[in-house]
Amino acid sequence: MISDITTARDAALADIAQADSPDAVAAMTTRYAGKKGELAGLKKQLGSLESIDAKKEAGAAINAAMAAIDAALERRRTAVAADAIRIQVEAERIDLTEYLGKPKRGHAHLVTQAWERLEDVFVGLGFRVAEGPEVETDWHNFEALNMPIGHPARGEWDTLFVDHVPPEGEAGTTVLRTHTSPVQIRTMLDEEPPIRIIAPGRVFRRDTPDATHMPVFHQIEGLVIDRDISMADLAGTIDAFTKAFFGKGWNSRLRPSYFPFTEPSAEFDIQRPDGSWIELGGSGMVHPNVLRAGGVDPEEWSGFAFGFGIDRMAIMRHGVADIREMFSDDLRFVEQF
Ligand code: DAH
Repeated sequence: MISDITTARDAALADIAQADSPDAVAAMTTRYAGKKGELAGLKKQLGSLESIDAKKEAGAAINAAMAAIDAALERRRTAVAADAIRIQVEAERIDLTEYLGKPKRGHAHLVTQAWERLEDVFVGLGFRVAEGPEVETDWHNFEALNMPIGHPARGEWDTLFVDHVPPEGEAGTTVLRTHTSPVQIRTMLDEEPPIRIIAPGRVFRRDTPDATHMPVFHQIEGLVIDRDISMADLAGTIDAFTKAFFGKGWNSRLRPSYFPFTEPSAEFDIQRPDGSWIELGGSGMVHPNVLRAGGVDPEEWSGFAFGFGIDRMAIMRHGVADIREMFSDDLRFVEQF
């Protein structure tokens, strides 16, 4: 009997060692460790043995053989499961070597970088950042800025109208803001002077994209309202900004111009260290009609405002030839900055 047990055990162990899949291990578990297995059969024959000692010896041998088989099955089960995972991983493997060796971190887009630097510089000069909606009323975008309906200057802004009738308004009175200047009105209506804000944001014009135009772009507006504000404060602020943003070797100048919302009005130019001038934006003393629209008394308060393109400024600073690059997702461009 002992030799039958040993033979059965060795055959089972040899077979189990060959099991190469979870299904094969399951089948062998039934076959060798189950109630109908060979060792279970031998166990049933224990009763037919003559002596108590022989029964004890054979019983102990069967239990030892069963334990060895259970342990072998368990080892095999673990190994086969690990194999199955390895095979699956191998099959689902994706080749990422393209990304190896040169781990890359993303960074803010050139427009965002310029926007954030502008905020930093102006906050350093004592300004607060204000915001307004991109979908704006005709009143905030034009009328309150001293451009009543029919005013010829409205034609300067190729306006996109929104097909929406506000509860209190008329059809055709909702626009995508054509500039950040309406934030001046919203700020004056919201808070008492003195006011010192900048308002960076997205603006919209009915323009076909080309090297110098985009239908969507970014501007930054500035507004200062206080007692006895003069053109000298405007010139000083523009110059302090120019030197803080571009560097010590840069200068600025104001050139007479016209905007409906300022009187007098000026364009401001900046001068590169090589002496050449570039036109940056518009500015002026806030028109009394604009102050009144914002609920500010022009007899008591005066102010200046300015506005310029963020994208335009960034492309000038970096020598980008085509403004459309600023709105493409071409990594060859994006990664240069
Ligand atoms: N809103 C003007 C534009 O879009 C820019 C501008 C000019 C803003 C003069 C101002 C200003 O605040 O005073 O072209």
